[in-house]
Amino acid sequence: MFDIVVLASGRGSNFAALLAAQTRGETPIRIRALLSDKAKAPALELARNAGIAAVALAPRDYADRISFDQALFARAAEFTPNLIVLAGYMRVIDAAVIGQWRGKAINIHPSLLPKYPGLHTHARALEAGDNVHGSSVHFVTAELDGGPVIAQVEMPVCTDDNADTLAARLLAQEHRLLISTVDLIARGRIALGADGITFDGRTQQAPLKLNASGTLTSVE
Ligand code: GRF
Repeated sequence: MFDIVVLASGRGSNFAALLAAQTRGETPIRIRALLSDKAKAPALELARNAGIAAVALAPRDYADRISFDQALFARAAEFTPNLIVLAGYMRVIDAAVIGQWRGKAINIHPSLLPKYPGLHTHARALEAGDNVHGSSVHFVTAELDGGPVIAQVEMPVCTDDNADTLAARLLAQEHRLLISTVDLIARGRIALGADGITFDGRTQQAPLKLNASGTLTSVE
């Protein structure tokens, strides 16, 4: 089995979607734990209800950012994960700490990176007049939403969309994207090589795309 630790700061719908895929038996993953920087994160409650280890660490209990990140990732390492999945985890991670997890930590972000790293992605896409919006899964580096992009899902923007309708519609697509990407990493079909993302052993020049039937395909 391919062991996963999820980091989440809030709601946890992406965690729940991954867990549901695991429960349906459609992907060879085993979620070992949910870790959070917020003791009140609803994601922790979802994990507890599912009988999954739920751990909260408070940044204020640590002298500085690096001490917190070291403690959090040491706690994650106790579950010997093959992959750490950041799903709505709202902190940038110290470079030395995340550097030890190269190719073993991914994040889901609600924009078509490199567009709109950071917050308010839906409002920014609307302001820019984008016709297409989407979500990306990328390997995590110390740069905010800046690591190599593995895969994306695209979605049309409608004329009557506002930030809330866009966010809600995209969330369902995010869940599909995260499940498909994690599944291919777990099956050893996606990895981070010396020259970038590899898919079935071939280095990719562009992110994989999720098609309507839920399959990730190379755009080469
Ligand atoms: C998602 O939109 C994700 O892309 C972003 O934060 C949100 C988390 O949602 N990084 P949830 O906590 O998984 O429901």
